[in-house]
Amino acid sequence: MKTLLEARGDENACGIPLTNLDVSEAKRFEDDSIWPCFERLRREDPVHYCQDSPYGPYWSITKYRDIVAVDTNHKIFTSEQGVTIVDVPEEHWTPSFIKMGPPKHGEQRNTVSPIVAPDNLAKLEGLIRRRVKTILDGLPRNDTFNWVDMVSIELTTQMLATLFDFPFEDRRLLTYWSDIAVTTPKIGHAIDSWDKRSAILSECLDYFTRLWRDRINSEPRVDLISMMAHSSATRHMEPREFLGNLILLIVGGNDTTRNSITGGLLFMKKHPSELRKLRDNPNLVSSAVSEIIRYQTPIAHMRRNATADTIMGGKQIRQGDKVVMWYISGNRDDEVIEDANRFVIDRKSVRQHLSFGFGIHRCVGRHLAELQLKILWEEMLNARLEVEIVGEAERIASNFVHGYSALPVRIIA
Ligand code: HEM
Repeated sequence: MKTLLEARGDENACGIPLTNLDVSEAKRFEDDSIWPCFERLRREDPVHYCQDSPYGPYWSITKYRDIVAVDTNHKIFTSEQGVTIVDVPEEHWTPSFIKMGPPKHGEQRNTVSPIVAPDNLAKLEGLIRRRVKTILDGLPRNDTFNWVDMVSIELTTQMLATLFDFPFEDRRLLTYWSDIAVTTPKIGHAIDSWDKRSAILSECLDYFTRLWRDRINSEPRVDLISMMAHSSATRHMEPREFLGNLILLIVGGNDTTRNSITGGLLFMKKHPSELRKLRDNPNLVSSAVSEIIRYQTPIAHMRRNATADTIMGGKQIRQGDKVVMWYISGNRDDEVIEDANRFVIDRKSVRQHLSFGFGIHRCVGRHLAELQLKILWEEMLNARLEVEIVGEAERIASNFVHGYSALPVRIIA
């Protein structure tokens, strides 16, 4: 007797011979039909070779422990050829510290990481709480609006503007550049060539170069531009490397937290017993935040390349092969996470998830992301906000950023 999920898997994934199964198809993320594909790979072929895909041949790593093994072994699995499944043409390539190994990676990471150190987060807490209250107070009552735009994007973009000390009135440019940076050009779409994508990102570089000039001639202070301008590890970056690190920090701080905010609301409304648990016991908020981030997995994958022949799951991975760690799949691996397909805000070992990665590139901004989500939920509980979802969530057609472009809601006043 098949489980419901296996039956759904038959419809979506099992009609395809395993050798042809390509889990990178963006459509499956857009229509949320990806789950049975990963379920099948975890069960039948956890280290899976896809010979033919729009991104060329690649390995899929789909089980929790295998993903940790790849992520924590940066000598064999390097990020230096890119961290997404897409191969960026050389003329459009932008170096950044996530695409570097030691020692340069550590030097640049250490340049920016103090901004999310506990003492600075403590300073930011009051500001985030005031902003959350203002955003929530300003939402329409008894009228439909897009939660993604008015809450998720607004809150994360305000935070990013603060981290860069970026002109506040222009903050939506950060959202715009972030969205462009994660777009893979496609014929027939708004961004239909790498040239067009690079032209827009060069506007981002120009804007930030003006800020850099201003900061390098001022006293060092705690904002990301000033920190990079005054550090020996980053002071002499080429423009392309500056742009690469900007994109890393913008995308890192933006898309991920944004989609956890939207996902959180969606999950709570779809699982009313979990929302009730949280309302009855607001001390569960930190635990709920971790569960939201696991369940959403805002970055679906990270990519590496093998630097040497190696065996994994009985398969021979060759030097140079592209290896994709599907965090989104590992986070649903029942062998490590009990009843992993269920959303349970007070589950045991709730912080045990892959959403922030592991190893030397483990997310530098994770505590800031958790803080923003925690404050948002605390203030939503305090305000007894009754949010109703009034339409289908629109999902992004991406195998990298796992998230939403729209969630129509209404607040019942
Ligand atoms: C790295 C996820 C929030 C900045 C990463 C990685 C993941 C990730 C998966 C790569 C880990 C690896 O390769 O092992 C997330 C999620 C977030 C989030 C799910 C929110 C829920 C943030 C925020 C910032 C940020 C708020 C910035 C303020 C970065 C940076 C890196 C990174 C700079 C590169 C670290 C390195 O290469 O050493 N993040 N992130 N992230 N993240 Fe985040």
